[in-house]
Amino acid sequence: MPPPPAYPGAAPSINGGTINGTSMAEPNKEIIIRVRDLFVGFGEKMVMKGLDLDVYKGEVLGFVGGSGMGKSVLTRTILGLVRKRSGRIEMFGSDLDQITTREHAALERRTGVMFQQGALFSGLTVKQNVQVPMREHLALSSRLMDELALLKLELVGLPRDAAEKYPSELSGGMIKRAALARSLALDPELVFLDEPTSGLDPIGAADFDELISTLQKTLGLTVFMVTHDLDSLYAICDRIAALADGKVIAEGSLSTMLASTHPWLRAYFHGKRARQLLGDDRLAEASS
Ligand SMILES: Nc1ncnc2c1ncn2[C@@H]1O[C@H](COP(=O)(O)OP(=O)(O)OP(=O)(O)O)[C@@H](O)[C@H]1O
Ligand SMILES: [Mg+2]
Repeated sequence: MPPPPAYPGAAPSINGGTINGTSMAEPNKEIIIRVRDLFVGFGEKMVMKGLDLDVYKGEVLGFVGGSGMGKSVLTRTILGLVRKRSGRIEMFGSDLDQITTREHAALERRTGVMFQQGALFSGLTVKQNVQVPMREHLALSSRLMDELALLKLELVGLPRDAAEKYPSELSGGMIKRAALARSLALDPELVFLDEPTSGLDPIGAADFDELISTLQKTLGLTVFMVTHDLDSLYAICDRIAALADGKVIAEGSLSTMLASTHPWLRAYFHGKRARQLLGDDRLAEASS
């Protein structure tokens, strides 16, 4: 992986730190995404109401919350696709309000995204989809881009002949893999995955979880993963953050979630599905 570009004004490391008098950071952990007091809304409706969040380098953070609570909006706001009303967002130590368009493009190059629903371009082949970020950010010959795209497809376990296929010719699981390959097109350090396993059958979802976990470890990625999938949270997430009422209401390990008394968290982590996955004993232990 090439060395990260230097950003004027960017702190090389943003360990620790205190904002608004409250220290959220765990000491000695580098923060890759730091969100403070974020407000985002559409018209009269506020979706984020003072949200704080830290994502640490090298972790898989599972981001949970009820449908329509704003998980995708938060992802899109961090990526600069939705405008915030107020608050502060830092990525790789740079305050996104304080950087130039060029510096922002440099940050984008360090970041990959897999949108909810895969969001491949239907008029492009899989290979061309994977090459979209390359065309946007790199000046490479088409031969080199072809080689790189095939490498990315191999990385996510897609057969070579998938490269020339259009999204409509692929199964749901293959579309997910192609979207994951595209998110890795620029060798990112940070990857956003919005509901990566939704719509897959349990075996397909478990395989995809394993793929994410393997890639995260081998490539040293930091992963921000929106998910409803308890299996994924359990299998691959290092930490979980839960969203409700426009804020992160709990942040920590699975045990922290299980011990929370918030009604949504109790319903989610102590429901029938959770009991099947975690077992009644473990849930009782966490609640006592
Ligand atoms: N461009 C937009 N204009 C107006 N409202 C929007 C827009 N995008 C999202 N919203 C609203 O913001 C709220 C949060 O939406 P979001 O898509 O982030 O939910 P989510 O938590 O990702 O839900 P799900 O789990 O179903 O994907 C919803 O009420 C949605 O209708
Ligand atoms: Mg969503």
